[in-house]
Amino acid sequence: MKQSGLPRPVTEVLDGKSRKIPPVWLMRQAGRYLPEYRAVRERAGSFLNLCYSPELAAEVTLQPIRRFGFDAAILFSDILVVPHALGQRVSFEEGEGPRLEPVADGKAIDGLRQQVDHATLAPVYETIRLVRGRLAPSVALLGFCGAAWTVATYMVAGRAVEGQIPARQFAYRDTSGFARLIDRLVDASATYLVQQFEAGVDAVQVFDTWAGVLGPDEFMRWVVEPTRRIVEAVRRDVPNARIIGFPRGAGTLLPRYVESLPLNAVGIDWTVDPAFARASVPPGMAIQGNLDPMALLVGGAALDRAVDGVLQAFGDRPFIFNLGHGIVPATPIAHVERMLARVRRC
Ligand code: CP3
Repeated sequence: MKQSGLPRPVTEVLDGKSRKIPPVWLMRQAGRYLPEYRAVRERAGSFLNLCYSPELAAEVTLQPIRRFGFDAAILFSDILVVPHALGQRVSFEEGEGPRLEPVADGKAIDGLRQQVDHATLAPVYETIRLVRGRLAPSVALLGFCGAAWTVATYMVAGRAVEGQIPARQFAYRDTSGFARLIDRLVDASATYLVQQFEAGVDAVQVFDTWAGVLGPDEFMRWVVEPTRRIVEAVRRDVPNARIIGFPRGAGTLLPRYVESLPLNAVGIDWTVDPAFARASVPPGMAIQGNLDPMALLVGGAALDRAVDGVLQAFGDRPFIFNLGHGIVPATPIAHVERMLARVRRC
């Protein structure tokens, strides 16, 4: 295992320390709001080709670090490389998001590979090695995967669908079939994350973007339990693996998530009441978030107020400043600079 002992603000907070000035990074910090990203994206041709080209993916991973000096770089890839490595057809349509050949029944699930094809994912591990070699020692490198539930929603529907109705129906209609899909994703995600640690990441984030569409029982069954199994499997191979969970939209179910999962940090979205988050999250578990991406888009006094609110709510505990979800492409670069100056008081 290659977890560095160097003091990096992000890893210190993940290890339970508070810092006067919180470390900061942003979800989707490498992306279309940056002209230098758009230039490389054009050169790469398809989005998946960008994810699987280590030199290009390393370059776009590093772009926001060079421009803004964030405290963490996040590997440039996508959560849907895992279904791709399980043998599902995946593509990204210009301006329309992902398209997958839907896994519509138990037969389609059994047709997937038993294990991820690591040859497909090898370029991702190479990207990690390239980035780590080029990153300043104080900057953390984060890997990631999608949580089993969120990845399954795309695999079943074949695209982003309002309310994740196809996956929710599948899970009720053919519970054991759906459980087999989740099992396959738990194994695939855990081995994928272990390989990311081997390649040199300091921590990983498990993105559960669609955690918020499930009722309490289904939330425990499809969000909490599979994530617990991923965390346990990763820590069997990487005992001190630092793991951040992001159950977007968990709302009142947030306490169940943080009580059931031995995470280093939990990412919270902007709809969570800070008092509720503080009361729910154990003191040793860092909180990450939760600036409203719309405040960053709008800028000005509204942004200043929102930044101050987040700092006031969480600044005195283990805390990583971030957005409550990804930065939107129309966000002006000047607003990111303004936000950073305010967080860092410079
Ligand atoms: O900078 C970073 O955050 C690292 C890279 C990253 C991407 N996707 C790049 C990307 C990460 C961590 C993700 C995670 C991801 N991918 C999630 C979970 C987090 C979230 O945002 O909810 C999900 C649900 C996906 C699946 C996905 N990928 C969708 C639904 C889309 C289309 C929506 C969109 O924004 O266009 C993508 C495409 C994608 N992934 C882009 C980027 C920069 C934009 C496509 C492009 O540049 O052509």
